[in-house]
Amino acid sequence: MTIFLIGFMGSGKSTIGRLLAEQLNYSFIDSDSWIEEKAQLSISEIFADFGEDYFRKLEQEFILQFETDNTVIACGGGLPCYNNLMHEIKQKGIVIYLNCSAELLVNRLKNETHQRPLIAGLSDGDLKNDIERRMNSRISVYEKSPITVFPEGLSVEETVSKIKEEISKSGY
Ligand code: S3P
Repeated sequence: MTIFLIGFMGSGKSTIGRLLAEQLNYSFIDSDSWIEEKAQLSISEIFADFGEDYFRKLEQEFILQFETDNTVIACGGGLPCYNNLMHEIKQKGIVIYLNCSAELLVNRLKNETHQRPLIAGLSDGDLKNDIERRMNSRISVYEKSPITVFPEGLSVEETVSKIKEEISKSGY
């Protein structure tokens, strides 16, 4: 089984995904790390040197070449929203949406904007507006996930338990 974790930047996909993989004895792949290794550049450098469209092509390449396996994949926040990749990942495995409020995301992201090209250099107020705008445009894609988990107020361990419970309830 392949488990895809999706959701906005800052929703905890990598941290939660790593623990979930460890508990299931699965491999773990972060799509951003795969892309950085493939391009031998950081995500910020890829955006700056080649632009967002090129980055989205690399995300597509990652998903299309991926062979289904016992793996947890943390997807970059925008990955399902371009090149029909939500459809692709739903064909390849079970998709879990980590749904966090904009307030929580702003608090988590405000000290990390420099590592994230889409929000680099934004003031706290602009960051909130940007997150709300981007969430509104992505939500209809994220909500096509068969499973949604709300990590807010839960520890990483509790979120992982909730994900495992939802997967077994879904009959996968
Ligand atoms: C992006 C999210 C980032 C990374 C890139 C673009 C997005 O991944 O892929 O900066 O479009 O939301 P994380 O969600 O892991 O931060």
